[in-house]
Parts: sequence; C-alpha cells; structure tokens
Amino acid sequence: MLDVNGIRKIHKERFGHEPAVFIAPGRVNLIGEHTDYADGFVMPAAIDFATVAAISPSNDANGTILSRNFGQTIERKMQDIGTQGSHHWSDYPFGVVSILQQEGINVPGFHLTLEGNVPLGAGLSSSASIEVATMLAMLHLARTTLPLPKIALLCQRAENDYVGAPCGIMDQFVSCCGAADSALLLDCRSLDFRLAPIPKHLSLVICNTMVKHSHAGGEYGIRRAEVEEGTAILHSHRPEIRFLRDATMEDLDRWGHEMPANVLKRCRHIVTENVRTVAAADALEAGDLKTLGRLMAEAHASYRDDFEASCPEADIMVQLALPLEGCIGARLTGGGFGGCTVNLVESIYAEQFASRIAEGYEKETSIRPEIYMSRASAGAHKVEHSGTN
Ligand code: GLA
Repeated sequence: MLDVNGIRKIHKERFGHEPAVFIAPGRVNLIGEHTDYADGFVMPAAIDFATVAAISPSNDANGTILSRNFGQTIERKMQDIGTQGSHHWSDYPFGVVSILQQEGINVPGFHLTLEGNVPLGAGLSSSASIEVATMLAMLHLARTTLPLPKIALLCQRAENDYVGAPCGIMDQFVSCCGAADSALLLDCRSLDFRLAPIPKHLSLVICNTMVKHSHAGGEYGIRRAEVEEGTAILHSHRPEIRFLRDATMEDLDRWGHEMPANVLKRCRHIVTENVRTVAAADALEAGDLKTLGRLMAEAHASYRDDFEASCPEADIMVQLALPLEGCIGARLTGGGFGGCTVNLVESIYAEQFASRIAEGYEKETSIRPEIYMSRASAGAHKVEHSGTN
C-alpha cells in the first residue's frame, strides 16, 4: 500500500509547501500482446500498484524531482530539459515535462516527489505509471487540463522520443482510462474503448518470474522491426495494409513466402492475436470464462512459439498454473522476455494458487518468485487531502 499522506508529509517537510497529489496505476495485460503498435486490439486492466506524484511550485526556474524509490534528488533548469534523455531514472518525469514544453504548455518551476510500488522491469508498466502521474501533476501546476486519451498519447511520446523506448499506446492508455473491476478493450487505431467487467469472484494473481526485461534495449525493438518488415511486404501487394491490423491470415498465406521465416512467424502472431483479443473481450462480456481461458492459453502459445517473446521461466510459470484449482487462464503478460504472468483465478482459490505456484516455481527454477494479488483498479486521478491509498 502506498502511504499517500506520508508522501504528502515528506514533500512538505522537504520542499516547504503543501503539495497537490496524483496517482497513476501500472497495468496487467490480459490479452493482446505487441498488437498496439500494429494498430490492433489490446485488453489490459489497471492494477492496485501505482506511482504517486506530489507537486508544488518552486517559485524559481528549476525543476526538482525527489525519487523516494531511488533515494535521490535531481534538479534541472527548466530551459535545459531538452528533448532527449540521458539514460537516467529521471528521463521518465523530465521526458513528460519536455513533451509539454514542446506542446507549448507553460510548466513553471516545480518540486516533485515520486514514489511507486509497481515492481520495476517486471512488465507491469512502472514507466507508464510514472509518466502519467507526472503529467497529471504538471498539468495541474500549469493550470490546464487535457482529455485522458491525449494525456496517454503525450506520455507515449515522452517514452518514445525522450526516453528512447519504442513502446505502443497500451500502457499509458490504461493507466489513464482503466476502471475498477474492469478490463479495457482498446482499439489502438481509433482509441475507442469499452470496459468489460471482470466478474467479482475472480482475482488477478500476478506472478513475477524475476527475470528482468528492458524495453529501451534490444528485443522489443527487434520484434517491432520484424513486424514492420512483414507489414512492408504485405503493403507492397495490398497498399491498404498500413499496419498488421489491416491484414488477414489469407494475406499471410498468399505473400508470407516472401518473408524471412522469423518475420512470417511474428506477423502470424499479431494477426491471430488481434482476432483472439476481440474474441476474449466478447467472452468476458458474455461470462464465458472457459473460452476466455482457452484464448489466453492460445495467446501464450503464440507468444512463445511464433513471436518467440517468452522465456523458459515464464513457460514453467504458466504450465504450473494451468492445472491448479480455480485457474481460469494464465499467460505471460507485457512486452515479453521475462516479467510476470497474469493469472485469472477464482478468488476463493487465490491464496492456495499463489502458494502452490511459488513452491512449484522455486522447485523447478531455484528462483523465488514474487506474487502480487490485485483487483482491476481505477485509472489515474487526483488524490484529495484525506485520501489514503
Ligand atoms: C510493452 C509496451 C506496450 C506493448 C506491450 C506488448 O508493455 O510498452 O506498448 O507493446 O509491451 O504488448
């Protein structure tokens, strides 16, 4: 639990002013992996793990950020924030300030305290939660507002351009627009979305393989490039295919032989994943949990075999989960190559499920996993003074 009043107090002691406080959640993705930058569909949910941003004006021309997680403070002149980061934790919040400056929004000098409990590098979008919480704080200070989808897009730009990680829109969007007890089916082309209630008797059990991933480096970018290579080949035959969202299995059957084998497999994952994701949202809305679980299992297999973005530890974690009592569905969630599995589990079995997974996983891998229980939670918002979270 984040102690919002405690963060408020620390901010006031350190910077001398009562702050305004904002909170933005991390996310877990139920299904729809690497489909966001292909203009496709995703179905994430915001989680109970979040970043809190406490802000007050500095009354000078500097931006100062205290990270409670890193135990560090960094100060920059507002005019020196620039347009590119320096591979430092502060790139995420300063990236947000930079994008607002580029948008012509006048952010005054500030004191910002950040504290989060989204595990770092675990595929639960700690970075998006930092960006979104920071952006709400900065907009407050600049005395302006923007629609939530626009906030998500600007945060994505901060991550793409300033941090240098080529992510899609999913994480920032659900951090902004997620809702309690609901998954969010997002059309990443139109940014239309609908909320699908997660039945009250189910819990999200998130199992951390403890294998770290990083988006700024290698594999994520390689996958994205492979997808773009395949898209270009399809586009040369059918110009209306601008993203894999526009392609079908028939297109791949017809022109896939022109692609290197790895590129064809990446494209096949995305084309089939889009279909599975829409079907999964329908199943969730219809209360057809059996179909939802089957689609999650198929999504994991496709992520493992066609997209080759799983890792042995995540495969073990999923294998352990599937036969356990109360398990509706299990798969690796997020950008891949490590991180967490998402498990939809009947709440009455959740504790038992967690301890069996922990035991089985440690036995097979000699790694002690972390297991987080969550409900789907609300999107980013201001926390009023008496609020605790
Ligand atoms: C990361 C990115 C997202 C998305 C997922 C994979 O979380 O930030 O934009 O591409 O990976 O689905």
